[in-house]
Amino acid sequence: MSRRIIVDTDTAGDDVQALLLACLTDRLRLEAVTIVAGNVPFDRQVENAKYTLSLVGADDTPVYEGARGPLLKDFHHVEHIHGAGGLGGNLHPKTGIPSAEEFAPAEIVRRCRAAPGEYTLLCIGPLTNLALALSQEPALPELVDEVWMMGGAVHCEGNVTPAAEYNVWVDPDAAKRVFEAFEVTLVDWGLSLRDSLLRPDGVDAVQNLEGKLADVIGGIIAPVYEFTRTEQDVDGVPQPDSLTAALLAYPELRRETTTYAVEVDERSGLTRGYLSVDVNGGSGTSAQTRVVESADRAAFCDVVLGMLRDRDPDQRFRNREGK
Ligand code: BDR
Ligand code: CA
Repeated sequence: MSRRIIVDTDTAGDDVQALLLACLTDRLRLEAVTIVAGNVPFDRQVENAKYTLSLVGADDTPVYEGARGPLLKDFHHVEHIHGAGGLGGNLHPKTGIPSAEEFAPAEIVRRCRAAPGEYTLLCIGPLTNLALALSQEPALPELVDEVWMMGGAVHCEGNVTPAAEYNVWVDPDAAKRVFEAFEVTLVDWGLSLRDSLLRPDGVDAVQNLEGKLADVIGGIIAPVYEFTRTEQDVDGVPQPDSLTAALLAYPELRRETTTYAVEVDERSGLTRGYLSVDVNGGSGTSAQTRVVESADRAAFCDVVLGMLRDRDPDQRFRNREGK
């Protein structure tokens, strides 16, 4: 049975691969895409999402435009990582596909009210849309199935400042409200760096594959790889958003999870967006954030390569089931 999902995304870089996976796996049923401010200029993200859907014949999936900036703070895009426009720098699609009419947070509320307990929210950008949806419907935590989020730096330094990972840093006020209200399953930057890393042989493999999906993703990862090598001393390409989508779709990839009390530092300054994760249980706050601590990296990379080669991310698991 497939899970009904809404993907909330700042579509650029690895968000593209996460969307492809959400469309192509039989484990998930992607019913709506909502766009939130983040990686690159907003209108570009909207086009990137529509283009991604059109690559796999899913352009009838509605795309709803949401918050064009964080609740309270200023932020910056990261085109220096993803290339101008967010798809590697050389791809600037104009699909001509109209956006759906509703404001994204209102649509999240509408759908969850209409089908209580059925939708899982896959949040792979800043949490502004979800925080706005929550303010419109305070009972939203009871109306959703699960909330999965890519973000935070749990046992590691951040990627945008030493304290913070980008998605939480962009809108820490939204993240604070969301982590207080929902039982979030979190895929953080540290896990992404370790267990989603496409190593040099994997980067070569993607770049040598034939076909449209591999061409697009090969172009997207090129500047990211350059950035991670030269600026982050990481020899490979982390795939945080598609790891989050894959862990949601395939429980087989989850190795270990721990539930912690988590609080977000929303203050401006050095610690903006820091996640205080109560690893020794001393806070007295109840633990409700489930952190994925480790994942099957080799199997995840197989899923990605299977998807880019054959448009069939499920093949690894189907083969196993068949054995
Ligand atoms: C996260 O920030 C964005 O740049 C990526 O798409 C990912 O969601 C990683 O910190
Ligand atoms: Ca993202």
